[in-house]
Amino acid sequence: MEPPEMINVGDVVLKRWEPAWADHATMAVRELLPELKPFLPWATDAYDVEASRAFIEMSIANWDNGTAFNYGIFTGAGDFAGGIGLMTRMGPGVLEIGYWMRTAFTGRGYMTTAVEALTRVALTLPGIERVAIRHDVANAASAAVAAKAGFVEAGRVQSEPEAPGETGTEIISERRATQGF
Ligand SMILES: CC(C)(COP(=O)(O)OP(=O)(O)OC[C@H]1O[C@@H](n2cnc3c(N)ncnc32)[C@H](O)[C@@H]1OP(=O)(O)O)[C@@H](O)C(=O)NCCC(=O)NCCS
Repeated sequence: MEPPEMINVGDVVLKRWEPAWADHATMAVRELLPELKPFLPWATDAYDVEASRAFIEMSIANWDNGTAFNYGIFTGAGDFAGGIGLMTRMGPGVLEIGYWMRTAFTGRGYMTTAVEALTRVALTLPGIERVAIRHDVANAASAAVAAKAGFVEAGRVQSEPEAPGETGTEIISERRATQGF
């Protein structure tokens, strides 16, 4: 199972991570810390270029061993806009999508477009029946993206909060291959 290294939907282009983007990614994450810190445990004031490089190296290794497929998000004009990825950690038959978008590019529908495009691709991969998004109930922006991209709540799970804005209740939303586009 391997998705394409580039997914081009015009306004938004997803590309498999490359080491050369570490500086852009660091700036983007640092600028987005107020939105990231409440919900993503890796987003801390200590986030620096070494953390970005480690993330990119891990993404390259995970892609090669088939456990996660992480992309940088670019605008059609070539600006670095964020990150999105498919993870196998929920088990066989399902891929989980995670995402973040640089402040300067939020609110333009780019993330909804990126999630829809990646979901469409994921549902064509062998053995994949559904795509899931997991987010804390307090993460209204993530919930809005999931709903706009056609994901439907499939359940709620309790988990130990790992970031300061988390309540401990996570919503799992899904899109299924049988749903169509
Ligand atoms: C989640 C995130 C990617 C949304 O990015 P975005 O650029 O606003 O997404 P879109 O432009 O595609 O907008 C989708 C919808 O979300 C809505 N939205 C955005 N922020 C919102 C908020 N705080 N509360 C409620 N709705 C919100 C938008 O209004 C839009 O709906 P509309 O078109 O009907 O107005 C961005 O806020 C982010 O990076 N957050 C931090 C990382 C994160 O939490 N990731 C998810 C982890 S599970």
